[in-house]
Amino acid sequence: MDKFTLFVLIFALVSNILPKSEAQTAPRCPVEGDAETCDLPDCRCSSTSIPGGLDRSETPQIVLFSFDSAVNVNNYPMYIDLLEGRKNPNGADISVTFFVSHEYNDYNLTHQLYRLGHEIGLNSITRSSSTDYWRSLNESMWTAEIVDQREQMALLANISSADIKGMRAPQLQIGGDTMYSALYNGMITWESSRPTWNMRQPGLWPYTNDYLSNQDCQIAPCPTGEYPGFWTVPMIDLIGSDFSPCPLVDQCNPRPTTAEATFLLLRSNFLDQYLGNRAPFGVFSTSAFLQGSLPEFEARREGYKLFLDFLATMTDVHVVSISKALEWIKAPVAWTEIDDFVPWQPEGVHENYCNLPRSCRYDFQGSERYMMACTLSCPPQYPWLFNPLGQNI
Ligand SMILES: *[C@@H]1O[C@H](CO)[C@@H](O)[C@H](O)[C@H]1NC(C)=O
Ligand SMILES: *[C@@H]1O[C@H](CO)[C@@H](O)[C@H](O)[C@H]1NC(C)=O
Repeated sequence: MDKFTLFVLIFALVSNILPKSEAQTAPRCPVEGDAETCDLPDCRCSSTSIPGGLDRSETPQIVLFSFDSAVNVNNYPMYIDLLEGRKNPNGADISVTFFVSHEYNDYNLTHQLYRLGHEIGLNSITRSSSTDYWRSLNESMWTAEIVDQREQMALLANISSADIKGMRAPQLQIGGDTMYSALYNGMITWESSRPTWNMRQPGLWPYTNDYLSNQDCQIAPCPTGEYPGFWTVPMIDLIGSDFSPCPLVDQCNPRPTTAEATFLLLRSNFLDQYLGNRAPFGVFSTSAFLQGSLPEFEARREGYKLFLDFLATMTDVHVVSISKALEWIKAPVAWTEIDDFVPWQPEGVHENYCNLPRSCRYDFQGSERYMMACTLSCPPQYPWLFNPLGQNI
């Protein structure tokens, strides 16, 4: 063995021993005086500073509502009842984000929510309840679950795929760099699954992943790689009355069972941001938190309405979808100028491009599936992983 071969062998050994992620760890955020800079609209370091250097009194308080899980005849009327007819201070309808999962989803109703100006985000095809599944998923499986779901959603709900931009991981179980690479390579532009407890007050604003984030890692594995222009929308933890953190309102302890308790929980957490650095305040829940026949579900819905009524009394508070919030963060303007801010202007109801939905029936894995789809005919197979459009015969 000559010296060169020995060198190559040792090099190969050493480079295999070094952790692979080491090589691709994102650089630290540039500071003043560095040659590199990170500037809006494309780049923002993870921080609690208000975008555009605005003062907190000039900053509109953004409130993000989101609902995870399938949209169907059980929860659609509740969403309409909760959201219909509510306006932001500029006269535009409020908008929220639905993280939709495929199983038992009604694509006609999904289309109707989209038409009303709400955002449709991705919550996976299988929505597996196993956190182990999501934690150890490889990149091609993340692509099949999320990136392929965008094409599935675009087809079955007849929505432009360009309007489907973001995702939330089921059970908030992200997959670190494996997941981030899949989303980044799949042209998804943001994700919102990472709770923060340490950066709650003042609150952590959404940031891009050009540089290493300083966000706490509440649910490992967290990404450390470089994903230029890809946004993380942190889930700032709420605090339940037992003082423990709850990224989803569902997880607050004790679970509120009256309208009053629900309202007070939301209001006190809202004020932590509103009276602080006005980082977007998230009211994130699954539909299961509000949907059920027991009186406590009705009470929570009433509590949400009381909270929305309360927000409507403030001229500097806007309820917008996550993608609309990101438009503001990219190009921040004072709330007094918001009437001229194009991305938040009133849109009205879009045309119905799901006039004749198909009711499709399938035998799938030993049971039946019914699916409402906005397609001209039913896909020949039940749409699923590796066959997201149901076209493979
Ligand atoms: C599609 O959804 C709309 C809105 O709820 C509803 O009026 C319509 O009946 C639905 N179509 C079918 C075929 O279910
Ligand atoms: C990813 O995981 C799936 C399911 O476990 C497996 O079939 C596939 O071969 C894996 N892909 C790679 C590139 O490892």
